[in-house]
Amino acid sequence: MKANKGVNKFLESSGIILGIKDGKVLIQPNNSKLPNRNHFVVGGPGSFKTQSYIITNVLHEKKCSIVVTDPKGEVYEMTAEIKRKQGYEVHVINFDDMRYSDKYNCFDYVKKDRDATTVANTLVAAKNNPKNKDIWYNAQLSLLKALILYSIYEMKPENRNVTGVLNFLQEFDPEADETGISELDEQFMKLEKTHPARRAYELGFKKSVEKTRSSIIISLLTTIGDYVDDEVAKFTESSDFDLGEIGIRKIALYVIIPVMDSTWEGLINLFFNQTFQELYAVGAKNNTKLPQPVIFYLDEFPNLGRFDDYEKFLATCRGYGIACCTVLQNITQLQDKYGKEQAESILGNCGVKLCLGNVNDTTAEYFSRLAGKSTVKVDTGSNSLSSGEKGSSSASKSYSYTARNLINADEILTMNPNDSICIITGKHPIRLKKTKQFELFPSITKDYRVSQKDYKTVISEKKQEEFKELKKTDESIQEIKGLKPDIAVEVKEIEETQETFETEEMEEPDLIFETEETEETEETEETEETEENENNSDDVVKGFFSQKNNSHEE
Ligand SMILES: Nc1ncnc2c1ncn2[C@@H]1O[C@H](COP(=O)(O)OP(=O)(O)OP(=O)(O)O)[C@@H](O)[C@H]1O
Ligand SMILES: [Mg+2]
Repeated sequence: MKANKGVNKFLESSGIILGIKDGKVLIQPNNSKLPNRNHFVVGGPGSFKTQSYIITNVLHEKKCSIVVTDPKGEVYEMTAEIKRKQGYEVHVINFDDMRYSDKYNCFDYVKKDRDATTVANTLVAAKNNPKNKDIWYNAQLSLLKALILYSIYEMKPENRNVTGVLNFLQEFDPEADETGISELDEQFMKLEKTHPARRAYELGFKKSVEKTRSSIIISLLTTIGDYVDDEVAKFTESSDFDLGEIGIRKIALYVIIPVMDSTWEGLINLFFNQTFQELYAVGAKNNTKLPQPVIFYLDEFPNLGRFDDYEKFLATCRGYGIACCTVLQNITQLQDKYGKEQAESILGNCGVKLCLGNVNDTTAEYFSRLAGKSTVKVDTGSNSLSSGEKGSSSASKSYSYTARNLINADEILTMNPNDSICIITGKHPIRLKKTKQFELFPSITKDYRVSQKDYKTVISEKKQEEFKELKKTDESIQEIKGLKPDIAVEVKEIEETQETFETEEMEEPDLIFETEETEETEETEETEETEENENNSDDVVKGFFSQKNNSHEE
């Protein structure tokens, strides 16, 4: 019974688990007084980053919305069912196999002309070297921007996506006739002179020399060529939920990313950029605080591409109620992507740094330096005998004090694989035992395992409403104009889409297992304890799902 009490107390706690110290689980609570709740977690391959940090924390978190990157989808398979039972709405964006995913259309988040620049920039930079911004690069960029703006302002709602742009390019020949005007030019010239799409078109692409134009179009088609694929077109045609909803309701979002394939790095990067941006927009509407706090677990961080202002995001997210955990294999990866200075700022904006071992020299030296020095008393070995005035004598040993590293880089390199080093801003370094999910919550991830291939998407109510609204507005515009849409792009699935919207039922979350957290858990700054770590699987399951369930215990 003693063990149960300990287990339940720990399970009822909330916050980010760091590891085990003297048999107690060390947790940074949601209301921590540290400067932020951003974690930097580093460990080489097989150092239990996923098993002892990511999965453990995804299972344990019960209050915040969770966004977790999930190479291979193992985190989804091991935790999604448990999150549902804890009252989470589960979503999956699967960049690895788009058939088993919610849809994501990056054009849905283009609300200002500047957003079109961001989307165009990210898509072009992903396929062309951004360090070499020659005229090809820039002309491609401005053409894509013009096309995005054209699709947002001029096309039917169901065509406002990359496929719509591709169809448009296929429909209207960019090759000029003998008068020097192309079909594509004509489409843009029909717009008002001040129309943002026309301005982007005229001031960019149209200014390029006639004979380079077809090469620019070819480069652009190469840049967005991956979207021609049917599966990709379907995945990017619309959005099944709005990214801002993560900051409004309790959502667990698994972003499954391919491990060895960088085809979608640009789109993945855009996805996270837009998520950050949408959450800040929701925050701005709610006194700069998200109605629903959010935690990001960014496993395999370097695979998400480069975020221009990542350190600024880390520096400001706490105010919005966002915590962000950056997980990677060694600090060199961060320096390669961001440069030494910016990497330093990123590290500086993480209040907790955790080294799980099996790292490279640079990382080991960084942690050794961060851990600082300690003073050690050294026996110098010389004895001296002194005689007192009244003939007494005394012997004294002599010592000296020297400073040495609390932990040397080589000690980090040869550290026990079950140990980690935790450095919390303003505190002494701590050596911890890792919190492997299979030891802390034995069997639960096996008992509730699901397959990523069984994922069924549900379109959020907000998105269904928005789409209906867009259709209505579009129809009335057409009516006013008294004309059919002048874009002869074939509209494939309007009826089909509408039907899905009408018949798709929202699943009710499983209320029986709704976890209502008690507020009272009094936590000291970072510690929360279990009295013993020997968990019994049944107790863990009960403790996990609800306190109501615990009443069945005895
Ligand atoms: N249920 C389990 N019981 C015992 N060991 C396990 C279990 N599940 C995974 N492991 C072990 O955990 C180790 C892998 O840990 P993990 O996947 O967390 O590493 P990682 O640090 O995320 O590595 P990578 O950088 O490759 O993603 C492997 O050695 C694996 O055998
Ligand atoms: Mg991993």
